[in-house]
Amino acid sequence: MERSAVTGATGSMHGFPAALTSFVGRAGVVDEIAGQLSQYRLVTVTGPGGAGKTRLAGEVAKRVAGRFADGVWLAELAAVRDPAKVAAAVASALGIRELPAVAAADALAQTLARRQLLLVLDNCEQVIDAAAELCGRLLLGADDVRVLATSREPLQIAGEARYRLAPLTLPDPDNPADPDGSEAVALFADRARRADASFALDGETAPVVARLVARLDGMPLAIELAAARVEALGVAQLLDRI
Ligand SMILES: Nc1ncnc2c1ncn2[C@@H]1O[C@H](COP(=O)(O)OP(=O)(O)OP(=O)(O)O)[C@@H](O)[C@H]1O
Ligand SMILES: [Mg+2]
Repeated sequence: MERSAVTGATGSMHGFPAALTSFVGRAGVVDEIAGQLSQYRLVTVTGPGGAGKTRLAGEVAKRVAGRFADGVWLAELAAVRDPAKVAAAVASALGIRELPAVAAADALAQTLARRQLLLVLDNCEQVIDAAAELCGRLLLGADDVRVLATSREPLQIAGEARYRLAPLTLPDPDNPADPDGSEAVALFADRARRADASFALDGETAPVVARLVARLDGMPLAIELAAARVEALGVAQLLDRI
């Protein structure tokens, strides 16, 4: 076993991509999941595709990193389609050298037994059974390891606490111009300004944006995709096309 593998400092974050855009809203949600993680050793954030589970997990990781002597480690499973490769993917994310599938699970269990860290298992849904099995084994064998999983469906293993992520909050129909009144509007406005510096929420655009984000069900990915087209289409045409 390489002694250097999975040795982080308290509060260190490993494998997380730098955020290129601002995180909008959901302060209470971050608090709540951070609280669940002090109580439970496995918390799974569930919700439909594009609901913001992965982005949220990164924010929660930042919030709780100081609790873990060996830091927080991201294992991204979105691109893993073969269940037999889950353990190797997680091992590789933790800096454990490449090993055959069975050996990877053993090496992980051995290494993590001596670590105090948070493992973020991101996008488990494609390999849910394998992720659940590995997670169960690691939690049993490593007392000081906690797991924050994101998945469209829960892992369904013993000890799992779940957090079902709701859509971004929608605007009050009576006050659609108040971006602080709606996370969905705030996200749209931020991304629209990035796409078109002249975009502003005003008496004309705000009611249209309010309808638009409501029609997109407050889903962050859909809101970002729509906002990216604001320069070409303008908000009224965007609304027409949705
Ligand atoms: N609260 C937020 N503030 C700013 N951007 C957000 C927020 N939530 C999500 N996003 C953005 O919306 C997009 C989709 O979010 P994300 O990838 O986290 O969704 P997901 O639920 O993990 O989707 P999938 O199920 O496909 O993995 C990303 O570009 C992300 O940065
Ligand atoms: Mg995701």
